[in-house]
Amino acid sequence: MQVTAEDLKVLSRLVDDLCGVVIDESKGYLVESRLSSVAEEAGCKSFSELYYKARYENDKTIQSKIIDAITTHETLFFRDNSPFEALQHKVLPELIDAREKTAAPRRLRIWSAACSTGQEPYSVAIILSELIPNIASWDIRILATDISDAAIRQASLGFYRESDIRRGMRQEMLDRYFTRQGDGWKVQDAIRAMISYRRLNLLEPFRGIGPFDIIFCRNVAIYFTREARADLFNRLCAELSPDGYLFVGSSESLTDLGPRFTPQHHCRAVFYQPNRPTAPRAAAGIGAVPVGAR
Ligand SMILES: C[S@@+](CC[C@H](N)C(=O)[O-])C[C@H]1O[C@@H](n2cnc3c(N)ncnc32)[C@H](O)[C@@H]1O
Repeated sequence: MQVTAEDLKVLSRLVDDLCGVVIDESKGYLVESRLSSVAEEAGCKSFSELYYKARYENDKTIQSKIIDAITTHETLFFRDNSPFEALQHKVLPELIDAREKTAAPRRLRIWSAACSTGQEPYSVAIILSELIPNIASWDIRILATDISDAAIRQASLGFYRESDIRRGMRQEMLDRYFTRQGDGWKVQDAIRAMISYRRLNLLEPFRGIGPFDIIFCRNVAIYFTREARADLFNRLCAELSPDGYLFVGSSESLTDLGPRFTPQHHCRAVFYQPNRPTAPRAAAGIGAVPVGAR
């Protein structure tokens, strides 16, 4: 099936509206290669017919298939490694220490936003289990979300083929947290029980799902426009607790978003803490100090 310039224009706008992913004019081949089978399965003879069904008939199944076909689900266990080192050796020890010093319940809330097929939230859950010996005495929830129904389905199963396991999972962790099942490995129930899965489009309002102590939002905003990316990270900031942490992908940086985030470093990892705007101090000559800034 061949894509015309007009097809490319309207389908790019549709994909942007559905999930924020930008397809520029040079990506006709991508639309052809990824959407031809979606069009054929839907019984469409052309891309314009597919567009019509998705846009004007508002066919949710077709919309979902378009999103799945266009988005990239590449992921692996402990991706980039250094964020997980920072999580284990700096971020979690600090948060655990802070929570243990207060009378408040020993609670941690973590969000893996755009979790793809689940390797990221399972990696986080494994780090938590390694770090907190008395984990049962903590109230810990990991929310894992993605726009892709298929990815969420696979993530919640917690079953991985040998080839997926070999991408990042260390042998001792595999022995401790997985069970052999057929030609693959199943995540143990204690780890799966820490995570709840949900379909969520990051372009849409979050409607009070936070606050979170830690948010992972990695390797998704790179596909968005500058405006959608800035809007997303500002809204994520509002979902963080004042001493919370935000992890982004290794090729991403929030330094262009102004003073809303303070970068933090641990070895090679860079992650962010929110700066809360606050009213200027009454005393003359003393500038406003952002609450939560370190
Ligand atoms: C490259 S994967 C990243 C997975 C994981 N965070 C990591 O870094 O390994 C990008 C994921 O973003 C999801 N995604 C794309 N657009 C999205 C949107 N608007 N809302 C939520 N998820 C989205 C895709 O379905 C895909 O699973």
